[in-house]
Formats: sequence, C-alpha cells, structure tokens
Amino acid sequence: MILAIPVQAQTPAKPSPSTYASVEPLLSRNGCTTCHAPAKKVVGPSFKDVARKYSQIDGAGGVLLAKIRGGSSGAWGSVPMPPNSQANEQDLRLIAQWIAGGAPLPE
Ligand code: HEC
Repeated sequence: MILAIPVQAQTPAKPSPSTYASVEPLLSRNGCTTCHAPAKKVVGPSFKDVARKYSQIDGAGGVLLAKIRGGSSGAWGSVPMPPNSQANEQDLRLIAQWIAGGAPLPE
C-alpha cells in the first residue's frame, strides 16, 4: 500500500486518535518500533510517557525532532538512543508532532 502524506501535514492540526493510523507505518518503516511501543516501555520509553513528560514544554515538537534525529542519553535511564540519521525527515517531523500533541491513540 502506498501512503500519501496529505498536504496539510506541512502545517498539521493538533493530532487526534485517528492520526495514529498514519503515524504507525512511519514508526515501523524508520525502525522506531524495534525499541518503542506507543503505550508501554520496551527498550525506550513509551510514546505516551514521552508525551506526558513534554506536555508542559513550549516548542516540544522541535525539541523532540532534534532528539529523535540526533539521539538521546540520560533522559530516561542508562540506555541511550542512537541517532536516527538515516530516517526520513518528513516522517520524523510527523512523529514528533504526534508525540508533542500528546501521542493520542485510538481506543
Ligand atoms: C536502538 C533502540 C532505539 C531506536 C531504534 C529508537 N529509539 Fe527512541 N529511545 C531509545 C531509548 C533507549 C531512549 C531513552 C534515551 C534517554 O534516556 O535519553 C529513547 C528516547 C526517545 C524519545 C524521548 C527523548 C526525550 O528527550 O525524552 C523519543 C521521542 C524517541 N526515543 C523517539 C524515537 C523515534 C521516533 C524513533 C525512530 C525514528 C526512535 N526513537 C528509535 C531507544 C531507541
């Protein structure tokens, strides 16, 4: 299946639970699901936990994008996240915006 990224993804609205249907394939094709699940800790924190931690931070989307791209250490424990420098930039943007918007999931 080919997933078209909608034009409005450039200036996204606040994510809703249905946003996850378009974010999920981006997480898997960029290898994030090796270490992350939406609602439970795997190697890395769940996206719900990250969203909670960043919920009061201005510009969380940009901070998260930089950390996803460049890697992260010391924020959640002793295991670092390596840089995801091969990942698709537009995919990472959409993922970061979804997390910054609370990582809403379908029921
Ligand atoms: C090899 C395992 C691994 C992969 C692959 C991985 N992560 Fe991580 N991720 C981690 C770990 C471990 C942490 C916790 C790092 C820390 O404590 O700072 C983390 C942290 C994060 C954080 C939170 C950063 C913070 O400041 O709190 C986000 C967001 C995140 N990852 C998103 C992603 C996304 C999106 C992808 C795919 C492009 C991805 N990760 C791929 C292991 C991984």
